[in-house]
Amino acid sequence: MFEEAQYFAPVAKREDGSVTVELASSHPGFADEVYRERRNAIAALALNYQLGDPVPHAEYTEEEHQVWALVSRELAVKHQRYAIREFLDAGERLGLPKDHIPQLQEVSDRLYPLTGFRYIPAAGLVPLREFYGVLADGYFHSTQYIRHHSVPFYTPEPDIIHEVIGHANTLASDRFAELYRLAGGAARRVESEGALQFVSKVFWFTLEFGVMREASELKAYGAGILSSYGEIEEFRGMDIRPLDLKAMGTTEYDITKYQDVLFEAMSFDQLEDVVGSFWATCDDDSIARIVAEG
Ligand SMILES: [Fe+2]
Repeated sequence: MFEEAQYFAPVAKREDGSVTVELASSHPGFADEVYRERRNAIAALALNYQLGDPVPHAEYTEEEHQVWALVSRELAVKHQRYAIREFLDAGERLGLPKDHIPQLQEVSDRLYPLTGFRYIPAAGLVPLREFYGVLADGYFHSTQYIRHHSVPFYTPEPDIIHEVIGHANTLASDRFAELYRLAGGAARRVESEGALQFVSKVFWFTLEFGVMREASELKAYGAGILSSYGEIEEFRGMDIRPLDLKAMGTTEYDITKYQDVLFEAMSFDQLEDVVGSFWATCDDDSIARIVAEG
């Protein structure tokens, strides 16, 4: 078992209908039976979900709401310093609650009138083609659990803080929402697994971990950086490379560590010209040509 390389905890559904989230022994909630029960219950909500239903209500403890309040407050301070303007403006438009964890339905109710995006629950890892594909229809798969309250600034897996503070704030921007839609269209259009991986890696190095020059300062727009209390302080010291499709689509990354290679867009226009145009038109042949370029 490669527990240290685990990203989403595996979810098992037994014949009797019970659902178990298999947390690694290194997970901060591993020894907390009550937390694990809650994780199982939340995973079951997602497994039983049908598209079109309202998102089922997840139960959180008061301690968990306090984790959200603390992390939201601390990240908001860092966003003022490190996030691009487009993200800050979109966050103002969305107006997420700061004192309690929003239900995913509440996130959808705020987001849908702005950019047409809706949140749907995910128990854990969603297959790439499905995760990206439905972005084209304005659906975003989101985990619903929150990290263990003993370590509010750390999570080994993407939790609701990442999904909502990182992604919903970007999805409230018309320009970002269009990029997500285009990524979804690309994932549906490509046929080979290799081409899908390429599309997914470009997403990783942009909408998850992208950085952008803004008024001569390096800022972040990737949801992975903007939802990480530690990583947001480190990205300026990483190996920053120019925005390049071939490099992004073929560079390997380790999901369990801070991303040490990042790609910098010179402007939002450049991000749209290079990455948006790529997703809008790419297919297996065009990706093969990019990979073969010298
Ligand atoms: Fe993400």
